Amino acid sequence: MERIRVRGSGPLDGRVKISGAKNSVLKLMAATVLAEGRFTIRNVPDITDVRLMADLLRAMGSEVSYADAVLTVDTPADTVPEAPYELVEAMRASIVVLGPLIARLGRARVSMPGGDDFGQRPIDWHLDALRRLGAEFHTEHGYIEGRADRLRGARIVLEFPSVGATENALMAAVLAEGTTVIENAAKEPELADLAAFLNRMGASVLGAGSSTITIDGVPTLHPVDHQVIPDRLEAATYLTALAIAGGELVLEDARPEHMDMLMQKLGDMGLRTSAHPDGVWASAPERLRAVDINSLPYPGVATDYMPLMVAALSVADGAGIATENIFGGRFRYVDELSRMGADIRVEYHYALIRGVPRLSGAPVRAHDIRAGAAIVVAALGADGETVVSDAHHVARGYDRFVEKLTAIGADLDAD
Ligand code: EPU
Repeated sequence: MERIRVRGSGPLDGRVKISGAKNSVLKLMAATVLAEGRFTIRNVPDITDVRLMADLLRAMGSEVSYADAVLTVDTPADTVPEAPYELVEAMRASIVVLGPLIARLGRARVSMPGGDDFGQRPIDWHLDALRRLGAEFHTEHGYIEGRADRLRGARIVLEFPSVGATENALMAAVLAEGTTVIENAAKEPELADLAAFLNRMGASVLGAGSSTITIDGVPTLHPVDHQVIPDRLEAATYLTALAIAGGELVLEDARPEHMDMLMQKLGDMGLRTSAHPDGVWASAPERLRAVDINSLPYPGVATDYMPLMVAALSVADGAGIATENIFGGRFRYVDELSRMGADIRVEYHYALIRGVPRLSGAPVRAHDIRAGAAIVVAALGADGETVVSDAHHVARGYDRFVEKLTAIGADLDAD
């Protein structure tokens, strides 16, 4: 998918099924390295990032197959503990294989991830956490080489509740000797899903989803069958699409308890939402009201919601300030929204959005997954046609995006 063409659409209506969470399944796939044998992961979205992680597992010797949202992974006894440049370069999340590889095989060679469109993306906290467990690292020719004879449980205090650093530490600690306590851990629902997966594999993890995670190491783990939690970021995308285009939707399988702050903020903007027996029900107001938003670690407003919320604020009544506290460089999509007539001024990590009654379609570019989705969603409420180039970014994280939006009444196509 290279281009998405979106025409301004009328109100959305109907049901949209929320797929499994990208940011959970990628980590569950990494966790399959922890035990030999056949894993079954269900509710797996059909997205590019899952294909890239499958390629990485294959490069390490696993057999991977995928059909009808079910992914099977056969982990061999002799996993090759190496993540090559081409794959890590294509997907930064590959770095989460580092912890599990060192935990099971005592060594790992993983290409050093580079920056991306958000700016710098360091991994120092991942390495610090694994060092606390006894791993040693050196970097050579663009690769991080890690070693440990046997990891030992330790108290790890994270400087910041980094999602990836918490995941790497957790996946290493499950096979360490003794008890590990991770303080200031990330609390995202995807972490709780990873812990549930690991516990099913025979690990002993307590407190995931809170800021203190306690792990009692075990000598070995076994493969499991697991269903991925629904994608709260995908659900947020359809909620903001509704907020902008108007109408009424049921988001099947969405979990309201994973999106409390988003639903509060959208509620303050005038969207009505409630829990529904099948997921979440939502209905849009005549015109949105502006609010201020700040991204923060979970349960705060997720940084991934920000481009979507800024798109909604672009057409809200009044002015709002969006403060990005997680990724300093994450405002590039603002230039694209401005090309569509949005009135947004960015200073440092703040954006002041003065709502306009309507945007106007224009040629724009998707810089990353969420930026691309936000532009598509904004285009639903714009006059005329918007052509989004570099749309392959959207396919990295959204399962059948064009089809799902079309089924609820949006007017768009892709090539
Ligand atoms: N950071 C460091 N050093 C580290 C690790 C992180 O300085 O060693 C900084 C980052 O640069 C950033 C902040 O800490 O400023 C938070 O980063 P975090 O580690 O929490 O993010 P991540 O694990 O790299 C995941 C998601 C992102 C999501 C963030 C924040 C996956 C695959 N990615 O990234 O999702 O934005 O958490 O919630 O789970 C997306 O889905 O499009 C996406 C970018």
